[in-house]
Amino acid sequence: MTRVLVLYFTRGGHTAKIANAIADQLTFRGAKVDLVDINSAAATCINWPDYEVVALGACVLYGTYDKSVFKFIEQHAEALGALPNSFFCVNVVARNPEKRIPENNKYLQKFIALSPWTPADLKIIAGKVDYPSWPWYDRLMIQLIMKMTKGPTDPKSVIDYTDWADVKVYADHLLELVDVTAI
Ligand SMILES: Cc1cc2nc3c(=O)[nH]c(=O)nc-3n(C[C@H](O)[C@H](O)[C@H](O)COP(=O)(O)O)c2cc1C
Repeated sequence: MTRVLVLYFTRGGHTAKIANAIADQLTFRGAKVDLVDINSAAATCINWPDYEVVALGACVLYGTYDKSVFKFIEQHAEALGALPNSFFCVNVVARNPEKRIPENNKYLQKFIALSPWTPADLKIIAGKVDYPSWPWYDRLMIQLIMKMTKGPTDPKSVIDYTDWADVKVYADHLLELVDVTAI
C-alpha cells in the first residue's frame, strides 16, 4: 500500500477541496493517504519517513503565495526533496489552458524562483472565482486582474474552473512518481 502525504495551503477552501479530491482518488487507488493543512497542528509533527511520495499544493494570492507556504518549505525543504515530490499550483489565470503549461505560468515560475525546495514534478490547476465570498477589496482587485486577463468581472460570479477529471489524473500520476526500487 503506497503511503502518500498531501499537503496544502488554502485561504478560501478551494485548494483544500482539490487536495481532498486528490486524497480521495489516491485512496480509491488503494493508497494510504494523509491530508495535512500546512497551517494545522498536524503539520508540526509529520513523520516524513512514513511516506513514499509527497504533494504540496498552494493557491496564488495577488501574484504570489502566502508567506506560511514559504515558511513551511524553508523548514522542510530537505524532507520534501528527499521523497518523490510534486507541487500543485492553484490559480484562476489557469482557466486558460495555455497557462496550465508550467513554462507559461508566471506564478509557477515565481514559485520556482522563490522556493528553497525545487519540486521534481509540477502541476497547475485552475481554481475558483467566488466574488460573493470575497471581501470588497479582494473583489475589486480580482475584478481588475480579470479585466486585464479577459475574465469574469460580474461581482455575482461564482465559477469553478477546476477540471475535476484532470485532478484525478494528477492523483494517479502521483502514484507513478513512487520509486519502486526504494520500497
Ligand atoms: C485575495 C485573492 C487574490 C488572488 N490573486 C490571484 C492572482 O493574482 N492570480 C490568479 O490567477 N488568481 C488569483 N486568485 C484566485 C485564487 O488563486 C483562486 O480563487 C483559488 O481557487 C483560491 O483558492 P483557495 O480557496 O484555496 O484560497 C486570488 C484569489 C484571492 C481570494
